[in-house]
Amino acid sequence: MQMPYICGHEYKRKRFMVTNLLQGKRGIIFGALNDKSIAWKVAEMAKEQGAVFTLSNTAVACRMGEVIELGKRCNAEIIPADATSVEDLENVFRRSMEVLGGKIDFVLHSIGMSLNVRKKKLYYELDYNFLNKTLDISAISFHKMLQVAYQMDAISEWGSVVALSYVAAQRTFYGYNDMADAKALLESIARSFGYIYGREKHVRINTISQSPTATTAGSGVKGFDGLMDFSDRMSPLGNASAQDCANFCVTMFSDLTKKITMQNIFHDGGFSSVGMSQRAMTQYNKSFGDTAEENK
Ligand SMILES: NC(=O)c1ccc[n+]([C@@H]2O[C@H](COP(=O)([O-])OP(=O)(O)OC[C@H]3O[C@@H](n4cnc5c(N)ncnc54)[C@H](O)[C@@H]3O)[C@@H](O)[C@H]2O)c1
Repeated sequence: MQMPYICGHEYKRKRFMVTNLLQGKRGIIFGALNDKSIAWKVAEMAKEQGAVFTLSNTAVACRMGEVIELGKRCNAEIIPADATSVEDLENVFRRSMEVLGGKIDFVLHSIGMSLNVRKKKLYYELDYNFLNKTLDISAISFHKMLQVAYQMDAISEWGSVVALSYVAAQRTFYGYNDMADAKALLESIARSFGYIYGREKHVRINTISQSPTATTAGSGVKGFDGLMDFSDRMSPLGNASAQDCANFCVTMFSDLTKKITMQNIFHDGGFSSVGMSQRAMTQYNKSFGDTAEENK
């Protein structure tokens, strides 16, 4: 007898069991780089839940031993693509339909990169060539992906497309830099394309706004450790981990969430709805002294 997969295993008190949520579904997962990547966890979960899929990343990433190993473990073909190249994306969709044997049921866009962040340029001294790259890689690639799929009619009816976002699209976070602009654009693309693709093909398109997560992309953000700690303490449920995010992505790919589209869904332990927590208030009050001089 096949044992059911138990997800949410990090939680000591509550366990829940889900099996074969993605049985019979074909997918494409963009952006698994190493075992810290959110896309990596999504690939593992999608495999556990019975899906077949291909993996895609840049040519450099695809040559890395770790990615090759993930492909083997998931029995997934790895298809290199620069997500800013329409030609490369056409190849990913064409080849994925070939090897998986039909139209695609789910797509994960888990791609982000800012040279301004990498080169430590501040928001008031952005390099505009870098900014164009940030927007192209981190947001416009999502439009390109959707337009390619739409024109090739590559996604099945009621298919589900998810891209990963961050709350800096709505609120200012020091250090997140031009990625905030990219995320705002990403979320807007999900709404605009979600309307068209939903109306015509019942394909749903959403973004998941994830907690800070210790990955290669995440750790590049200025002051990332402090940000992660702050948001963990501020969130009533604590930060959502990469594994939590994978659980949620898989749910969004499943038939259980068929009527959700054009949404940006916060998956952040409640962080985005908290203004001031009790703990933060206590800490804040401690930072003041007793005298008027100290309180200036
Ligand atoms: N880590 C966090 O704190 C956090 C929080 C919210 C949202 N996100 C988002 O999650 C997504 C995944 O990031 P992650 O945290 O797993 O980090 P990650 O570094 O593991 O993944 C980023 C991926 O983008 C790929 N990539 C970069 N340029 C590309 C290009 N031109 N073409 C194709 N792929 C390209 C990288 O190779 C890598 O696999 C990103 O959109 C990120 O902004 C991350």
